[in-house]
Amino acid sequence: MSLDHLLEWIPKGGPEEALARQVEFDRLPRHVAIIMDGNGRWAGERHLPRVEGHRAGVDAVRDVIETSARLGLEVLTLYAFSVENWKRPAAEVNTLMGLLKRYLGLELETLLRNNIRFNVIGRADALAPDIRTELLDAERKTSKNTGMIFNIALNYGGRTEIVDAARRAIEAGIKPQDLDEDRFSNLLYTARQPDPDLLIRTSGEMRVSNFLLWQIAYAEIWVTDTLWPDFRCRHLLEGVVAYQKRDRRFGGITPAVPAGVR
Ligand code: IPE
Ligand code: IPE
Ligand code: MG
Repeated sequence: MSLDHLLEWIPKGGPEEALARQVEFDRLPRHVAIIMDGNGRWAGERHLPRVEGHRAGVDAVRDVIETSARLGLEVLTLYAFSVENWKRPAAEVNTLMGLLKRYLGLELETLLRNNIRFNVIGRADALAPDIRTELLDAERKTSKNTGMIFNIALNYGGRTEIVDAARRAIEAGIKPQDLDEDRFSNLLYTARQPDPDLLIRTSGEMRVSNFLLWQIAYAEIWVTDTLWPDFRCRHLLEGVVAYQKRDRRFGGITPAVPAGVR
């Protein structure tokens, strides 16, 4: 929301403060989307089972959500579980779902305190009933909040989302000549939200893994080698500072539209 609001929350005199002071608050990305990757490798480096990486990743989630809200982002989207992640062993999937449930139980207060609106994107109806109940409950309890939207991508696939939007268009009887990009965008799970300006991926992988395929058309991509469980406020601020140095052209020519200008 402001530098002061952020400074209240970060350690004084450390790298976080130096980075926070570099951020230009009038040119923030409106929407930051993050592919949280590298939990398994984090655990592997410590000779621990993969699920320990997922457990440790919850601390990163907590830190990034509060940093984003204090920074003043309009939307934060975290990729938590893809439609392809069902290919993983059942025990790993169950641990991920269990962690999600526990997170919601423990962190609802934090979401409310920070005026955050919680929103699930993805085919949530395919999730277990107890998880859906928790998700709906968190959505309902935060629905009146007016601050940052926190989208959690669960059982999410970019192609699935586009197919779902096409189905909705057909069901709504929209005539082909009435369908344009704006109208189509409003049929996506992220309807009425700004597209991500900044897409972050942790753990060094240079791919988008079926994430927000439509919405990232002109996102700036920032990849860090940091593994997700080690990702904190400092890394998010590094990403934002790097983003603000980019020259966004949107297919035009220089003089560029500087990053962050809406
Ligand atoms: C990201 O970490 C978490 C999810 C995809 C749910 P991974 O579990 O993909 O970790 P790596 O990529 O194998 O290290
Ligand atoms: C992307 O990570 C999905 C999530 C972060 C939820 P993956 O680890 O599943 O992606 P790939 O398999 O490396 O492309
Ligand atoms: Mg991975």
